Amino acid sequence: MKRFVAPSLLSANFGNLEPDLDMINRSECDWLHIDIMDGVFVPNISFGFPVLKHVARLCKKPLDVHLMIVRPEKFLNEVKDLGAYSMNVHVEACTHLHRVVQQIKDAGMKAGVTLNPATPVSVLEEVVEDLDIVMLMAVNPGFGGQKFITHTLDKVARLRRMIDSRGAGALIEVDGGVNRDTGRRLYEAGADVLVAGSAVFHAQDPLEEIHVLKNL
Ligand code: DX5
Ligand code: ZN
Repeated sequence: MKRFVAPSLLSANFGNLEPDLDMINRSECDWLHIDIMDGVFVPNISFGFPVLKHVARLCKKPLDVHLMIVRPEKFLNEVKDLGAYSMNVHVEACTHLHRVVQQIKDAGMKAGVTLNPATPVSVLEEVVEDLDIVMLMAVNPGFGGQKFITHTLDKVARLRRMIDSRGAGALIEVDGGVNRDTGRRLYEAGADVLVAGSAVFHAQDPLEEIHVLKNL
């Protein structure tokens, strides 16, 4: 089992991103998680590509891009041009998920598929073998700092069984409400990658918090 940590830029200081990105570069984190919203798929808007171009230039860690937008494939080239490591699309936002997954891989990125809290793991049965990452939302997407939905632990365990029983290689990533306590339980349930926004950026010592999350 991997133990990856991906701090979420959504909780960084938007008034001055450079010190936070410097902290990320010096930290033990594995990826920087980037939340893109459109105000349609989720009831919020975060940041767009003109801002992210500068983030990508300043950040030395691989970018894990989470698209909370309808028809995410429309922005495949923009995500690729950022130099993103992975592109995560919501199953609820893609009519032709199989095609989108192939397009992401053809563009040279890792293909991630994300499930909202109410979407069952079984929706992945026909596609899980093609995926590099499955991300489970542990909150309803759109905002940082929400409460962890405990049911996610059971969902992670079921997804772990699905992936292992098929010999598939997808990493299990969890996004929303992750902190030391929920993070430990998620690793125990079989998660590989923890996304943490407020737990990292609102900590007294973000570098230490990343270290703790990596070593739970
Ligand atoms: C929420 C985003 C998350 C968010 C998590 O829609 O997808 O990545 O930044 O924030 P926390 O860790 O504060 O729940
Ligand atoms: Zn996210």
